Amino acid sequence: MQVIIRETKEAATELAAQVVARQLARKPNTVLGLATGRTMEGLYARLVRMHREEGLDFSLAVTFNLDEYVGLPPDNPGSYRYYMNHHLFGHVNIDGRNTHLPDGMAADPEAAGGAYDALIKDHGGIDLQILGIGKSGHIGFNEPLSAMFSRTRVKALTPQTVAQNAPLFPRPEDMPRLAVTMGVGTILEADRVLGLVTGDSKAEVFAKAVEGPVTSMISATALQLHANCTMVCDAGAAALLTQRDYYGWIFENDPQWADFR
Ligand code: F6R
Repeated sequence: MQVIIRETKEAATELAAQVVARQLARKPNTVLGLATGRTMEGLYARLVRMHREEGLDFSLAVTFNLDEYVGLPPDNPGSYRYYMNHHLFGHVNIDGRNTHLPDGMAADPEAAGGAYDALIKDHGGIDLQILGIGKSGHIGFNEPLSAMFSRTRVKALTPQTVAQNAPLFPRPEDMPRLAVTMGVGTILEADRVLGLVTGDSKAEVFAKAVEGPVTSMISATALQLHANCTMVCDAGAAALLTQRDYYGWIFENDPQWADFR
């Protein structure tokens, strides 16, 4: 894992957006894994700007989102399909048929989860998985005790996650208590993982995710097992990391980041 600390949320988000843009420029038919949530809004806003002003091309890109609420149709403003259309898909030249989210409306969500993993495999796997970390330590909606080898399936959301996300619903009480999420094992199969974590409210969980022991109680610790994972954060989220100087030294000296410094 590499940890890149930028002073502000804006600078961290910009760096993450540049990583995604370069991936798309290098491989136009990239298979992207996508996340939703507040942190990603700035990332998508930057990708939309790059599309409009710099011609960033999504025409051959294929996307797979991490998760979707159970029971929310795509036109429900709380659904992640709605979020993605609103923040990204509706503003770039992506082919809607190439955008995929787990099916939260499936009659048999477990079978649909298996089909989702199979579809990812059919596309050759995810080239670059973008993700955030929730206050419960989740990646996707892999709440505490999610198995490290778990696959796309239905998970019950923790009270902490409900408290984190209910305010995003017009009527907070309408937030579903279940979601379909890629498993930790599904996420770990991506060729590369790019995490974006910002704000003091994430400092505690982020320090555990990066520097704590690997445990299924904090799914994000599984990222320590990934061979090509970069976590980009701001000073707020980095506040409780003990090895900040070391991470900075790596960033300054690793040639792969020369163009990002
Ligand atoms: C959403 C997702 C979640 C979020 C996490 C952080 O698709 O997978 O793991 O990334 O809950 O959410 P925010 O950015 O709202 O703090």
